[in-house]
Amino acid sequence: MAKGEIVLGCLAPHPPHVVYAENPEQNEAFSEGGWETLRWGYNRLARKLKTIDYDAMVIFTPHWQTYIGTHFLGLPEFKSKSVDPIFPNIFRFNYDISVDVDLAEKMCEVAGDSGIITKMMRNPDFRIDYGTITSCHMLNPDWDKPLVTISSNRNAHYYSPEVMNEQAGALGEACAKAIEESGKKVVLISSHSLSHRHFVTESPLPEDMSREHIYNHSQYVWDMKLVDLMREGKMKEVIDIIPEFTEQTIAETEAGGLTWMMAAMGYPEYPAEIYGYQSVIGTGNLIAAWDPVEVTREIVL
Ligand SMILES: [Fe+2]
Repeated sequence: MAKGEIVLGCLAPHPPHVVYAENPEQNEAFSEGGWETLRWGYNRLARKLKTIDYDAMVIFTPHWQTYIGTHFLGLPEFKSKSVDPIFPNIFRFNYDISVDVDLAEKMCEVAGDSGIITKMMRNPDFRIDYGTITSCHMLNPDWDKPLVTISSNRNAHYYSPEVMNEQAGALGEACAKAIEESGKKVVLISSHSLSHRHFVTESPLPEDMSREHIYNHSQYVWDMKLVDLMREGKMKEVIDIIPEFTEQTIAETEAGGLTWMMAAMGYPEYPAEIYGYQSVIGTGNLIAAWDPVEVTREIVL
């Protein structure tokens, strides 16, 4: 059997607003649009994904939070309605998700063997989180690939962002080994925004773009610092400053997604592809991708 490999890594923010703005048939709410910079960036990355041969998506989400160990989706299908707890007015999404259970079990086993506490999620009534749904819908609106969701163990809350960084890195290395042993071609997805301070009131029309801007300037400066390092191919440096960035900007990197993905990809030293940056309720959202194949790697923006 040929060795499995990671064919692309995607930083894919999950404000439900972008799904709301797209008006897919699965979502019950109706919008007049909004957040085009993010959506058009997602549309372009989704087109690139259509040109890549892969078997499954593996997504790490901050909105499936586990305090004892790391959990993996473990049934072939999950079907229900996902309602965003903060924005039920804009996100009521009817999903029907296929899971690559073999790949999930392999990652669970290899991570377990490396000393990480793991568990398979076998509850058929388990509700898939809106982070998984939003990122996967925007990257693959056809939903024609199986996925695996990995929960985020709350090391940053229970211990510190430094401990989180080490644990997420170890999980990334274990997942990369499992993918290699599986023989599969896999797209990794780290589902989160960057800076995450946000407004606490919503405009009467959520998609009113005259009300949208970054929460404050220091958040913007931090986000751009990370974008610059990503463009320069300095991902080890990015991961080294993640604890400080996380504390300064209350970033969703606290869950460990970016650290997990970069560790799995061996801390790329080549430039990230940048697809878009835009604020949603004041948070900083970046869409970026890491393409290990030099001939298909692009300067997008
Ligand atoms: Fe989030």
